[in-house]
Amino acid sequence: MEVQVSNPISMPRIGDKAPQFKAITTQGEINFPADYAGKWAILFSHPADFTPVCTSEFITFASQQEKFRKANCELIGLSVDGLYSHIAWLRTIREKIEYRGMKDVEVTFPLIEDITMEVATKYGMIQPGESSTKAVRAVFFVDPAGTIRAIIYYPLTIGRNFDELYRALIAMQTTDAFSVACPADWQPGDDVIVPTAGSCGVAKERMEDKENMDCKDWFFCTKKLGKEEIMDKLLNA
Ligand code: BEZ
Repeated sequence: MEVQVSNPISMPRIGDKAPQFKAITTQGEINFPADYAGKWAILFSHPADFTPVCTSEFITFASQQEKFRKANCELIGLSVDGLYSHIAWLRTIREKIEYRGMKDVEVTFPLIEDITMEVATKYGMIQPGESSTKAVRAVFFVDPAGTIRAIIYYPLTIGRNFDELYRALIAMQTTDAFSVACPADWQPGDDVIVPTAGSCGVAKERMEDKENMDCKDWFFCTKKLGKEEIMDKLLNA
């Protein structure tokens, strides 16, 4: 039986169900996570509209939206600014800002207005030691069943690495689909760890494809898993 432990300071954790909310966004109202059932969702916060690091992040993320969508993942942004600020900022981005060769970028994923900080507070995105008036750069990965699977936080002054967000997404989908774990710096096509972390010790005896395994010791076995096999299974799921 799954046990949900209550969290008195409202700081969602990995393995929790994503807290539910309804919100106004630049793409209309959303009901999260219900509207995203059956899909992965990345809910991420940024400190403020019309700020440079956030602008570079939005241009980068929006430019990669299609890549995430092909991996069955939708993006949802949030800041404690209002809707009209969001709309004006996104228009400015599209009309005036070029960053690393990316220009005329239209942000078509929803950007939540959260002037009351209700959603940001629910998700622990307001971290007063950093700022009590702005959300930190939080990233919540929510799986198709509405469970939080990974959380990443960055401070106000450092932009996120969107290649890493994509890598983490594909890694989680790979661990789910192939019952393996992904080692340090793993990229699709690199060897994976068998069996999944936490059940070490009898890897070689348990595996059917023993000949394909490379056991460095009793607790550390890897096997090959081709990028094409992964992408085939994930992108055609
Ligand atoms: C920025 O996005 O540039 C930023 C926002 C808030 C504080 C510091 C930097």
